[in-house]
Amino acid sequence: MSNTIAVGIQWGDEGKGKIVDLLTPEVDVVARFQGGPNAGHTLVIGGKKTVLHLVPSGILHDNTLCLIGNGTVVAPETIVKEMDTLLSAGIPVNERLKISDRCQLILPYHRALDAAREAAKGKAKIGTTGRGIGPAYEDKTARRGIRLIDLECDTLSAKLDENLAWTNFMLTQYFKVDPVTRAEVDAVIEIARQRLLPLMADVTLILHERHKAGDRMLFEGAQGAMLDVDHGTYPYVTSSNTVSGAALAGLGIGPNMIDEVLGIVKAYTTRVGAGPFPTELYNDSGMNDASGKHMAEKGQEFGSTTGRPRRTGWFDAVVVKHAVRIGGVTGLAVTKLDVLDGLPEIKLCVAYECKGKRLDSIPADAAKLEDCTPVYETLPGWSEVTFGATSFDQIPAAAKALLSRIEEVCECPVSMLSTGPDRDHIIRL
Ligand code: GDP
Ligand code: IMO
Ligand code: MG
Repeated sequence: MSNTIAVGIQWGDEGKGKIVDLLTPEVDVVARFQGGPNAGHTLVIGGKKTVLHLVPSGILHDNTLCLIGNGTVVAPETIVKEMDTLLSAGIPVNERLKISDRCQLILPYHRALDAAREAAKGKAKIGTTGRGIGPAYEDKTARRGIRLIDLECDTLSAKLDENLAWTNFMLTQYFKVDPVTRAEVDAVIEIARQRLLPLMADVTLILHERHKAGDRMLFEGAQGAMLDVDHGTYPYVTSSNTVSGAALAGLGIGPNMIDEVLGIVKAYTTRVGAGPFPTELYNDSGMNDASGKHMAEKGQEFGSTTGRPRRTGWFDAVVVKHAVRIGGVTGLAVTKLDVLDGLPEIKLCVAYECKGKRLDSIPADAAKLEDCTPVYETLPGWSEVTFGATSFDQIPAAAKALLSRIEEVCECPVSMLSTGPDRDHIIRL
């Protein structure tokens, strides 16, 4: 495999963890480039499940260097907990992992601000993961963020004083909630000092040296294109760029280092949190369509980070086509095909109708997208079982027809087909 960026191209949870894990034996380096512990990437090997939030999904393999790039936001307690779980499973994580000196730290006051802001928004809340992602990226852009390298600088204490004073003013005066204490922050800083500083490295330099030596690389995205802060359903998005382009700035590499972009996409659609979702069928606030319920139940659609039930709906080719375009996607990895087994018919949204007008692309305004209704094509379903299939010959004609139509409408070839959660449930095309 050549150097590949693997990104989600819906609203997250497309199966990135599974795909990155199974591709890892073909590369030497796996690197995360944006997002933080809002991500929950699931790996299933021989029925054993591992959920990763910050550690790259290549970590279970020997001889693979895992890197966390400057574009990420790292919560020290979360990553250390994740590392300890891996260590107790016998994974030598300290030998396989390096963290960028330039990555931003998520500190307790970021989570407090995230929670206070969501509570104050009431019904209009974004439905964040509550991990402090937005406030941490805000601090980065405001040039007051604490980076891992700051733990080695004399100015750290003064920076923390200033950040805490500002945040506590907002928490107590505006949101009327309790302040965060310096002791809480210092405890997290101490964890980072002890456990993360030994892993700190100039990740960009490593990548360039490995590239020169001919190593192959896999760049692992988090979230999905529709959660991108610029190209997603703003403001119902995360606070980073999630598209393939973010891999470049988030790791300090150039476009000449990239050969392929793999777009990971479910054979239907899910979303966690608030925001427009034109093909939605089923959720925990009243939509109860039978096909949507089938997807939620058979697909076990619960968030890997928060455990929240995921909203489900038909495949939205307008979304995927948009994502293919903005991400320069060269191949699709279609996951969870098996979840559609047994549905009498399958729908594919190929355009929207908005106030009597047909739309072939995503409107920039989330409120306008809320007003869009899907224009569907209906295809026959199949009664055969695709779960666990490992050869394309095992795929029924109706499922093959669905995949062909997805390729045509989204203008991108399907290069992988996932038929179950396990590493081995895969068909390479
Ligand atoms: P990520 O955030 O993109 O890594 O995806 P998540 O791990 O949050 O969610 C994907 C879920 O679907 C996980 O529980 C996976 O184990 C599971 N999964 C991945 N691929 C398949 C598949 O092809 N079929 C089924 N049934 N489950 C899958
Ligand atoms: P992975 O990498 C699905 C969603 C949240 C919320 C919005 C903003 O597992 O695909 P944030 O906490 O980032 O400020 O929340 O983004 N969200 C995700 N949804 N998968 C994810 O990651 C997500 N990360 C954030 O639910 O709607
Ligand atoms: Mg996930």
